[in-house]
Amino acid sequence: MTKMKKIKIGKLEIDSCVYIPPMAGVTDLAFRKMVRLFDKETLIATEMVSSKALMYNPNQSLMKLSEDEHPVGIQLFGHEPEVMAKAAILAEAQRADFIDINMGCPAPKITKGKDGAALMREPDLAIKIVKAVINAVKIPVTVKMRLGWDECSKNSPTLAADLEQVGICALTVHGRTREQGYTGNADWESIRDVRKSVSIPVFGNGDVRSPFDAAKLLEVTGCAGVAIARATMGNPWLSMQINQFIKTGTFTEEPSIDEKLDLAIKHLGELIKIKGTVVGVREGRRHLINYTKGMPNSAEARAQIGQINTMQEAEILLSRLKEESLNQVKNINLVKDKETANLS
Ligand SMILES: Cc1cc2nc3c(=O)[nH]c(=O)nc-3n(C[C@H](O)[C@H](O)[C@H](O)COP(=O)(O)O)c2cc1C
Repeated sequence: MTKMKKIKIGKLEIDSCVYIPPMAGVTDLAFRKMVRLFDKETLIATEMVSSKALMYNPNQSLMKLSEDEHPVGIQLFGHEPEVMAKAAILAEAQRADFIDINMGCPAPKITKGKDGAALMREPDLAIKIVKAVINAVKIPVTVKMRLGWDECSKNSPTLAADLEQVGICALTVHGRTREQGYTGNADWESIRDVRKSVSIPVFGNGDVRSPFDAAKLLEVTGCAGVAIARATMGNPWLSMQINQFIKTGTFTEEPSIDEKLDLAIKHLGELIKIKGTVVGVREGRRHLINYTKGMPNSAEARAQIGQINTMQEAEILLSRLKEESLNQVKNINLVKDKETANLS
């Protein structure tokens, strides 16, 4: 096993090789609290926040951070250097530990306004934005990008080197182009090429679903760290397992079915506390579905989760699932006992 070094992102030093990057609609305060139950060190970021929207409403709830969740960053998107600089000042005032600039979002509603991945087609503008943000704040500034706009314009190694010159402190690279969206496999070899073009820490990103995948990505790319997004949904313990595996070669087993269902209810409770019942339950359904994935006989429960409107309904549904899973385990054990008895 490789010995894990602390990662330095400007003045920030983290004892983790994992970054849980922004996911709109997912990495909110409630989700981040769930991650912190398992892992106090891993770098994590808010959902992306529109710099323009901040100019109209500086009190965006998306930027609210809690005192006990650091190290946490705020991700901003936008394409106007002065607006991004002003937004960065607001993010710093929220006590963010770093500001991440979004150059990777492929959604047409974002890219059509030159935001997100569209900035990779406008490297001069991208550099101006980063300069403006770095000059506006004292905290480290990082960038999250893709390999390029499309197969014919994979300019990430050059853009990364230019952004390092301007002063970014770390980089996350998702191993797909904008054109690919989420299709195909993330290209870790191309991430390695980007990593080689800079000397700041790079977090390789794309398709890491387990501690084994994380170790493989680190080996293939030589990156300082790994960014894991989708696989953390319903698995807020994954970053802890990855860090354990990279440090020691083993990792703690995932929580039992009972524990996972308790965590799902806790997550829903946090969402309701922060967003109220209507929004909290609406947003919580996808999380409950993620926590129950892979549980025996859970397909029907997942279909029903889509219909719940209250915490009580969630509790009834998940305690039924708990009972059914418990019975299933008992039946499996009975069969095993019989088989052993027949053998002896
Ligand atoms: C639901 C969802 C929302 C996302 N929102 C953002 C975002 O706000 N900003 C960003 O830079 N990337 C965003 N991403 C991209 C992820 O951070 C990550 O780069 C991508 O999912 C690939 O990593 P993975 O294979 O580990 O999921 C989002 C991804 C998903 C699935």
